Parts: sequence; C-alpha cells; structure tokens
Amino acid sequence: MAGYVVVGSQWGDEGKGKIVDVLGEQMDMVVRFQGGNNAGHTVVVEGEKTVLHLLPSGVLHQDALCIIGPGVVVDPFVLLKEIDELESRGVNTEHVKISGRAHLIMPYHVKLDELQETRLAGNKIGTTKRGIGPCYADKYTRIGLRACDLIDFDNFKSKMATTLSIKNEQIVKLYGEQPFDYEALAEQFKEIRERLLPRIIDAVTTVNDALDQNQNVLFEGAQANMLDINYGTYPYVTSSSPTAAGVCEGAGVSPFKLDHVIGVVKAYSTRVGEGPFITELLDETGEELRKAGNEYGATTGRPRRCGWLDLCVVKQAARINGLTDLVVTKIDVLSQFKTLPVCIGYELNGKVTTSIPASLEEYAKAKPVYRMMEGWEEDITGIRKFEELPENCRKYLALIEEITGTRISLVSVGPDRENNIILH
Ligand code: GTP
Repeated sequence: MAGYVVVGSQWGDEGKGKIVDVLGEQMDMVVRFQGGNNAGHTVVVEGEKTVLHLLPSGVLHQDALCIIGPGVVVDPFVLLKEIDELESRGVNTEHVKISGRAHLIMPYHVKLDELQETRLAGNKIGTTKRGIGPCYADKYTRIGLRACDLIDFDNFKSKMATTLSIKNEQIVKLYGEQPFDYEALAEQFKEIRERLLPRIIDAVTTVNDALDQNQNVLFEGAQANMLDINYGTYPYVTSSSPTAAGVCEGAGVSPFKLDHVIGVVKAYSTRVGEGPFITELLDETGEELRKAGNEYGATTGRPRRCGWLDLCVVKQAARINGLTDLVVTKIDVLSQFKTLPVCIGYELNGKVTTSIPASLEEYAKAKPVYRMMEGWEEDITGIRKFEELPENCRKYLALIEEITGTRISLVSVGPDRENNIILH
C-alpha cells in the first residue's frame, strides 16, 4: 500500500503540477481532494504546455485513474470544456471520474463570487471569482447540489429550485442584479447530466480498495498551507484544506494510509491576492524575480507578488502536514542573483520565532531575520546529479533541510518533465 500526498508548502504556484506529473508515471491513481478550478497546474511535456484547472495533473498518464474526489467543488462547464480541449488534442479522458459526493459549482456561485468581491471593495479577498467560496458556503449551509443529485434529474431540479430561490433573492435584493432563470438552468443541466453521468463513481470505495490492493495512489493538493482555511492567513485564504489532513476529509481516507507527504517548495516566495507576506520585495529585485520566474498566474494572468524564501512558512507546512519529504522547485530561477537572503526566523515583539501568529495585524509586524547566502551564476537546468550543482546552490538546499528538519528528495531545475535531480 502506498499513499502519496503532494501539497504546497507556501502560497501555491510552487510547481505542484509538474511534480504530480513526474510522480504520475508510477501511479495507479491520481486523486484531487479539495478546491476547484481555482487551481492552475502547468504541465510541460517535450515543450508542449498544458494548463489544467480542475482535472488532476495525472490526466496525461493514460494508465492512472484520475479522480475528482468528494472534497472538490466541480464547475461542470469548466470540467467539460477542459475534457473537450484535451480530447481535441488527441488525449483520451475516459479515465477521468468524479465522486458523486463532489459539490457542483453553479452559475449563481460564480456570479455571487464576483458580486461579493466587488462589494468588499478595499477589503476584497482577492478570489479567482470562480464561485469556489460560495459553493463551499452552500455545502456547509447544506443547500448545495452534488454530482450524485444528477442521477435522478427530477430530484436535482427540485433541489435546484429551492436553492435558486434563496440565491436569486440575494442577487436581486442585495445586489440589484437580474435573477437566474430556472428553466434555462434546468435545460443546461439536462445536457450536462448526460455527459457527467458515465463519469460519476463511488470514489471512497474505489480509492480505499486501490490502497488495500497495494496500488500507488497520489493525492494531488491544489493551493497550499498558507492558504488553508484553518491555518492560513485568514481571511486571505482558500475555502478548503489543502493539507494532508484535507486528504483524509476530502478523499475519505484514513491518515494511516498516507505513507509519503511531499511538500513542494519554490526556491523563493510568491503569493497571489492580499494578505501579509513578510519577505516580499517591492523593489526592482522583486521585479527581476517575477520576470525570471515568469510569475504570472496560470489561471488569471495576474502578476504574482514576489520575495525571498521564507523558511518559517515552510517550517509551518512541515509541522501541520507532517511532511516526510520536500521537493524544491524553480531553483534555476535564482541563478542570476549574487546574494540570496533566506528568512530563517521572525523578529516579533522583541523575540525571534519561527511561529506564525493567528492575528494578521500581529503577523504584519514581523520583521524577517535573514541568513545571507551566496548565489551562483551557472545555468543549472541541464544538471541531473546533486554533486554537480554549484557549491553555493548545495548550501542553499542544505539550509532548507536544516531549518525545516525535512529531507529534500527531488530538486526541480527547469519546467520540463526531465529537468530533475532525484535524491531519494
Ligand atoms: P497551484 O495548484 O495553482 O498552486 O499551481 P502549481 O503549484 O501546480 O504551480 P504551477 O504549475 O501553476 O506553476 C508553476 C510554474 O513553474 C509552471 O509554469 C511550471 O511549468 C513552472 N515550473 C515548475 N517547476 C519548475 C522549475 O523547476 N523551474 C522552472 N524554471 N519552472 C518550473
């Protein structure tokens, strides 16, 4: 039995998509367990780029069953579009299945996401406006619609009518916008139902049976620890748990079945949206990092905020997830910098700590304690052996292991599937 978990250790966009794709070769199953199409995984195979928002990054491996798990929220329009795009490029998608327990993102969720962000104005969360938050809110208010509801369409329509009346009231009375038309929505979902039904499965049994039969199952996290609904910089977080614990909840799997918890760490920091970012660079160096790392959102195209590596953030991910391994990505991007400050602690209220305060107002006061590391100039993209990396690069990696207390098992030195140094 081997359950592998891949999670983001910072604010997302660490390159999890590539790592899931690399590991996907050895997997019998790849499962997404949280989030929705707010993810933007980029997979590059022989120079050809595929951006996936909802489908698991393992989709390009035909032998791995790809499951959209119970904890995911599914926008059926986006899902079918992504499937159609892959099929039109000759990629078979029959191995893509959806848990009947997954909640459906409805068009009114997308609308309400936009309207709420606009209303919050200066206090906006910085969501991707894909309806993820409103869909999770309905799930917890217990008025959500699930993929399994589509099986009996009359039942689906009746549930939709109830929820729609509540949503339309909000849309009209609170925001002064046009309501959604029930008949038109029901008509759209008639078509969607026909296409989705053959893909709906009992994911809990399928995934647990696979683990019990000693198959390799990879649980693919989207977003990251600092965006976790419980442990991230609330309210500037996502609406789900992108952690190892989220796998248990969102895939219906026991913690005892998770053998490897791999935290993906970008060699520097980036974040999208609002919220504290202690090592943020608001100067030319930040701009250089953004350009060198091509730090623009795969989903939204937004420029990402950039800064130096913050090991307090990674250490927090190690604590919460019980990381067994780290994968360090995009270290090739750092090749041009002479000095590389790495944050190894925060100075806060006269003390040095690696803890992250719950209060954002408190956290914003933290000053980074930097260890100044010497950079390297060589292009390292072609390197495949750890010993061949420049000495300063090896020292940089050693510092990550030292502060986080977690071993590095793979170093990614470029975007392609082949650009890796495997250590363990
Ligand atoms: P989220 O789930 O939305 O957080 O996305 P993600 O973690 O999968 O990150 P994403 O794939 O969107 O972004 C990573 C980007 O970096 C992609 O364009 C990758 O092709 C690229 N990338 C991944 N690893 C490396 C690397 O080692 N070096 C370089 N230069 N680029 C990389």
